[in-house]
Amino acid sequence: MVSKVPPDMGKMGTVLVTGAAGCIGAWVVAERAKAGLPVHVFDLSDDRRRLRLLLDDESAASVPWTTGDIADFDAVTRAVEASGATAVVHLAALQVPFCRADPVAGARANVVGQVNVLEAARSAGIRNVVYASSVAALPVAGAARPSTLYGVFKQADEGAADIYWRDWGVASVGLRPHTVYGAGRDQGLTSAPTRAMVAAAAGEPFTIPFAGPLQFQHARDAARQFLACAEAAVEGAPVLDLGGPVVTVEEIVAAIRVEVPDAEIACEGDPLPFPAEGDGGPLDALIDDIGRTPLAEGVRESIAAFRDLLARGLVAVD
Ligand SMILES: NC(=O)c1ccc[n+]([C@@H]2O[C@H](COP(=O)([O-])OP(=O)(O)OC[C@H]3O[C@@H](n4cnc5c(N)ncnc54)[C@H](O)[C@@H]3O)[C@@H](O)[C@H]2O)c1
Repeated sequence: MVSKVPPDMGKMGTVLVTGAAGCIGAWVVAERAKAGLPVHVFDLSDDRRRLRLLLDDESAASVPWTTGDIADFDAVTRAVEASGATAVVHLAALQVPFCRADPVAGARANVVGQVNVLEAARSAGIRNVVYASSVAALPVAGAARPSTLYGVFKQADEGAADIYWRDWGVASVGLRPHTVYGAGRDQGLTSAPTRAMVAAAAGEPFTIPFAGPLQFQHARDAARQFLACAEAAVEGAPVLDLGGPVVTVEEIVAAIRVEVPDAEIACEGDPLPFPAEGDGGPLDALIDDIGRTPLAEGVRESIAAFRDLLARGLVAVD
């Protein structure tokens, strides 16, 4: 059973955010920090550079931060205890290319890490666990299984969450983003549209190496959706697509050219190896006033932010 609740970030105590040196996690932490609400980071990396894209240096430096490996159960348990967390937003993972490059590290981070978070939540009696699955966990039409090792790992995560609910009553929400964009989205297969925006803002050429339809999700919207689900009184272990507008990469390129008319941005190649679209309806039913930034607005805001961040030397074209 999933109960509909209004987003109210204030009700939660400390939220432990795993993988918060990364893109979505930085936005989750920034949302909490800007609202003056307690948050604690757990990440292999102690690099706060993505957080500094979103918060001033002093605010970024003051976020409580534990470095550790999500595949190390004792480290995860200690972080849960030390943070005093009442909710966990679990984002630590290796993305598609990194799982392909090192499958064992991918399995440890993406599968053992998920079990560690669920087990730590069980031990500590944490009521609210939200974790990132992915649209890549879904097979493309006509296929029986996901098309990447990363997708298979995410499918395993969804199965583990289901068993933790059925065997031990650990409730969780799995969210499946598709293609997240915005400041800090600088690595992974689907980071190319964001890197194209950085290049356009810098006056450099860029070719996005895929084409066709996808669901384009602003990182701030995704962060708010993760936090709202952490707030929800959920029974069970539902897995929900983030939803949002389906656009083509060609439309993203056109939206970039509206902001930078002489931009040398193109796209070429096959569509992404995932379904083009997930159904955002169940998430709409769970969260009131779900925010989904329209394409033109999100691209305008991102390019303006990248112009500023380039000028301050905080991002670079790669
Ligand atoms: N960005 C997207 O479009 C997208 C789409 C679908 C799913 N997701 C999922 O959302 C989550 C966040 O994505 P993101 O774009 O912010 O990723 P990201 O690559 O920017 O960040 C991942 C973070 O996880 C950390 N990490 C990796 N291995 C770790 C380990 N062993 N122990 C501790 N920390 C570790 C990294 O240091 C990094 O800070 C991931 O689970 C990802 O699979 C993202």
